[in-house]
Amino acid sequence: MAREEGTSAPRAPQGPGLYGERVFRPQDEGEAERIDLGALAYDATTLARLTQLGAGPGTRCLDVGAGTGTVARALLREAGVAEVVAVDRDIRFLTAEPVPGLTPLEADATSPDFAPGLFDLVHARFVLMHLPHPARMAARLSALLAPGGILVLSDAVDLTTENAPPTPYTTAMRAMWRGLRETIGTDVSWVPGCPRLLADAGLEEVAAEIHVPPLLPGSPISRFWAGTWDRARIAMVGTGLVDDAGIDEAQRRLESPAYAGLSPGMLTAWGRRPAAPP
Ligand SMILES: C[S@@+](CC[C@H](N)C(=O)[O-])C[C@H]1O[C@@H](n2cnc3c(N)ncnc32)[C@H](O)[C@@H]1O
Repeated sequence: MAREEGTSAPRAPQGPGLYGERVFRPQDEGEAERIDLGALAYDATTLARLTQLGAGPGTRCLDVGAGTGTVARALLREAGVAEVVAVDRDIRFLTAEPVPGLTPLEADATSPDFAPGLFDLVHARFVLMHLPHPARMAARLSALLAPGGILVLSDAVDLTTENAPPTPYTTAMRAMWRGLRETIGTDVSWVPGCPRLLADAGLEEVAAEIHVPPLLPGSPISRFWAGTWDRARIAMVGTGLVDDAGIDEAQRRLESPAYAGLSPGMLTAWGRRPAAPP
């Protein structure tokens, strides 16, 4: 297995399609509900940022790795956007509930042939962290912007695990990141540097923000992590950092009324393609 410079964890052999095949398979019962729990925790923040950046009537939008389509649907319903092209390697959740203006497109965003056109807004949330070559992906998604268009990338940052004392929660979370990295290549180490990737791709007005939800018992984000650990259980146990009983205990703690903690957060970075010269 490849080992990247500056990291101790091996990284899975890289290639498109590992997400959704070895872990997080869309055909597994409850996968749409798991994605929706994550979306419930972050959609309001995402939509506020996208509208602040100008998404509205007349904006041509591309949502890459759209999942169940909660962001695409909110752009249509709440921001007044007329059409969103929602791309995913597997569009079963997008076609399950069609709405006017939502155009599902089954495609692999890492493919050299991926050329869906030019858009005023290109958005990808919790997608690049699962793909190889984030810098290359940022550049390729930037190339899908019409002049003056904006690229918005959101991925996970975990501020409360790495240097924290071992608890059932931090042990499970550490095992999850390591296990996902070793099985499907998930890597969040580059995420704090995402604004630099956008600047290097030639975008302007680059900026970023972080939203970190609290882990309140019974909250969508706590249920999201408990469900994610169930799905990633084999990969987590395979790291040797945690066993099944340890994951069960971490899940019980998350549900406990006494639990107080901070979830991994979402770093959103954006940048604008320079407008065409007059
Ligand atoms: C963690 S989910 C995020 C879903 C959605 N963006 C959200 O935030 O709710 C990642 C999504 O990216 C899709 N995906 C993964 N690799 C992809 C690829 N190479 N091309 C297109 N979509 C991909 C997956 O099928 C999945 O729906």
